[in-house]
Amino acid sequence: MTKPYKAAVIGTGSALPEKRLTNKHLESMVETSDEWIIKRTGIKERRILEDDVPLSVLAAEASRKAIADAGLTPMDIDLIIATTITPDYLSPSLACCVQKEIEAKNAAAFDMNAACTGFVYALQVAQGLITSGTYNYILIIAAEALSRVTDFTDRNTCVLFGDGAGAVVLGKAEEGIASVILGAMGESGSVLTIPCCYFSPEDAEKRNEGKKQVIWMDGSEVFTFASKIMCEASLKVLENSGLTVNDISYIFPHQANIRILQNAAKRLDVPMDKVYTNLENTGNISSASIPVCLDEASRKNLLKKGDKIVMVAFGGGLTYGAALLTWSK
Ligand code: ACO
Repeated sequence: MTKPYKAAVIGTGSALPEKRLTNKHLESMVETSDEWIIKRTGIKERRILEDDVPLSVLAAEASRKAIADAGLTPMDIDLIIATTITPDYLSPSLACCVQKEIEAKNAAAFDMNAACTGFVYALQVAQGLITSGTYNYILIIAAEALSRVTDFTDRNTCVLFGDGAGAVVLGKAEEGIASVILGAMGESGSVLTIPCCYFSPEDAEKRNEGKKQVIWMDGSEVFTFASKIMCEASLKVLENSGLTVNDISYIFPHQANIRILQNAAKRLDVPMDKVYTNLENTGNISSASIPVCLDEASRKNLLKKGDKIVMVAFGGGLTYGAALLTWSK
């Protein structure tokens, strides 16, 4: 392409495990109720990856679909960026495992961890590599098996999370990613932790006896941060392109809690029918939330060429980010 070009989403794919964990199931595991979970979170069920299936298999399924949707083969992919906080191994990276599974032999591969904001962070990195002319086609695969780091005896967290994978292929087009903003507040990172290779006495104190590499979260702190930052980040990314919320067709937010999305929509003054949600059936699948939603919306033909959409996320770190994209498929 000789004309100026943008990095654009040219293919999407997703994969969810078959196994469902309903609120009714959770009632038999912790002191909770279907009614409480629906009222306080909007979630009815989440998908759980079977113990004997590596996350890379689910990630590869979503990746193959995205590559086929882009009209490409795995050999066309120059780079794979995997976003995850639950890789099968610290080494090899999830990206390398996916590269092997799909036989994308020409691709470089690495993992990124920005927790639930990982997908938006990856969009910014991939955009830079495409618009600089370094690569033609980049696969972003956001895949999470949060059930593997969930304490199913902790009702504060176990009702929230699920497993899944969403992928996009980025290529070159006249219209595409217009603007991305990213941020982090490391000073507040202790409100949501998942220990890995280090475990402090404070980490032990917060968790149930014998539980180590599991999520601990101060839910109300995260809730307050999320409601505010979703609105601020969306407005900032629109302002960068001289647009307002009236110019956008859809917001694709990180799917953490329906009340967070309602709060953000209210602050932004957009109706909820412009806010895409699927958390009722998936729960919070961290960085995979947005690309799974995007794939669903694309396959339902909800998006038309030229539509402007905002993707906005927050998560552990704490991190946040938003991207403004013109749909060009
Ligand atoms: N069932 C029944 N009662 C519960 C449950 C449950 N599953 N979980 C908590 N409660 C109780 C609490 O113990 C508390 O009881 P208490 O008053 O006797 O102490 C009561 O419900 C109210 O607790 P709150 O924390 O005020 O409940 P809230 O309405 O805020 O909902 C929730 C809690 C759902 C966790 C909410 O704070 C939230 O969604 N926070 C944001 C979570 C989030 O987005 N996390 C992910 C971000 S990053 C990532 O995606 C990895």
